[in-house]
Amino acid sequence: MQWALFNSEGLLFLLRWGHFIFGIAWIGMLWYFNFVQGPFFAKAEAGVKTAATKDLVPRALFYFRWGAMGTAITGWTIIIIRIMQGGVEVVNSSWGASILTGAVMGTVMWFNVWFVIWPRQKKVIASANGEKVDNLPALARRAFLASRTNTLLSIPLLFFMAAASHLSPNWDVTKVHMWLGVVVVLVGLLEANALLADKGPTTKPIEKVGGVIHMGLWFTVVFYVLAEVVLKK
Ligand code: HEM
Repeated sequence: MQWALFNSEGLLFLLRWGHFIFGIAWIGMLWYFNFVQGPFFAKAEAGVKTAATKDLVPRALFYFRWGAMGTAITGWTIIIIRIMQGGVEVVNSSWGASILTGAVMGTVMWFNVWFVIWPRQKKVIASANGEKVDNLPALARRAFLASRTNTLLSIPLLFFMAAASHLSPNWDVTKVHMWLGVVVVLVGLLEANALLADKGPTTKPIEKVGGVIHMGLWFTVVFYVLAEVVLKK
């Protein structure tokens, strides 16, 4: 059959389509939590907040966490299929450098969703339903910082995902592993700020909506400039 979808490229295309759908669901919900729900909750009356936490938040979190899962699974499946088709050389390329930069960020974000935000949000919901939960403010704060860090990372992530196929950098592909080391260290520092820092100047900029957007844009510039420097021919 000559239909475009019924071959291995078609399968890869379907995975890519799924990746966009899951990615939109995930990042859409992430931005909703950070840009819409958070500021609304900060002003809402206690009763309104409890009602929303019982019935609205769990629905939003469902699409949020499964969006994250679907995005990560489809993304990594595409990378594995690409390597199976073209060998490891596929990742030792400008495409590989860009996609793996986004993938490192996305995988840390996926970890934050499933192992930092969701377990703590379950307790916040349980508390709204009348269960006694110890240390609630500290739990909510950690989830908040992880969510803000994900919002920051979502901005450079989309830059590098899109750059992989739509920007043509003149990079030295023998240095991809070195570049990925830099990415892991920088993303690791941002993650440490979410998981270890509590108060203080390092968490301050990302606590405000404007601040997290600015930090996301600044880090996009930092990652891009570093990529051009480290991967220079
Ligand atoms: C878990 C981490 C992630 C991995 C492993 C991953 C992997 C990939 C891969 C392999 C591609 C290339 C597809 C191709 O053209 O063959 C891709 C593209 C893309 N990804 Fe991701 N991704 C991740 C997270 C995300 C997230 C969170 C978003 C947010 C919406 C996203 C949005 C995109 C977009 C828009 C493209 C299309 C780029 C283009 O073709 O112009 N990805 N991703």
